[in-house]
Amino acid sequence: MRKIIFVTGNPHKVIEATGILAPLGIEIVQNNCGYPELQEDGLAAIASFGAKWAANKLNCEVMVDDSGIFIEGLSGFPGPYSAYVAKTLGNERIIKLMERESNRNAVFKCVIGYCRPDEEALVFSGEVKGKIAKSIRGNLGFGYDPIFEVDGVTFGEMGDEEKNRISHRCRALVKFATWLKDGK
Ligand code: IMP
Repeated sequence: MRKIIFVTGNPHKVIEATGILAPLGIEIVQNNCGYPELQEDGLAAIASFGAKWAANKLNCEVMVDDSGIFIEGLSGFPGPYSAYVAKTLGNERIIKLMERESNRNAVFKCVIGYCRPDEEALVFSGEVKGKIAKSIRGNLGFGYDPIFEVDGVTFGEMGDEEKNRISHRCRALVKFATWLKDGK
């Protein structure tokens, strides 16, 4: 089985990535070393910088995951600033911000950054379209899962298996796995 170091402090991301990649013959090993998160407008730039930094620090091939939720009625907010907004506002205040908003469309995006030492990083992106729920629903998953719904069901109401079939993360990881399988 091909083994890849996943540099992240988020155990939920590790569980999801393992569920998606293990059946494709890729073993995930978590490393918590962290990496500087650029304050950039694009997830790809953040993931690419993080992967390159971590590959050179650990001296092995690594992957990282940078994700964000882009709310159409809020002009794409919080996007790449999703982690900061989760910490400062949180789901309840986002629901409040959306109270009078008729356009509840949102896109969840995930970028997987992959890099080998002394090489340039590659990125693999995935996204899923959905809506911001009118209230917090479900206690499964993590982060924005209880306020992001697809076909009327929030990620917080889905188990990992169901989320992994349609999620932004799954779509990015399958692209990454396909590239790895092509002998890279
Ligand atoms: P980051 O990729 O860890 O920077 O994530 C940005 C923010 O989005 C954090 O607050 C995460 O908790 C949240 N987040 C990332 N991926 C997901 C997901 O799959 N579901 C819900 N929230 C997520």
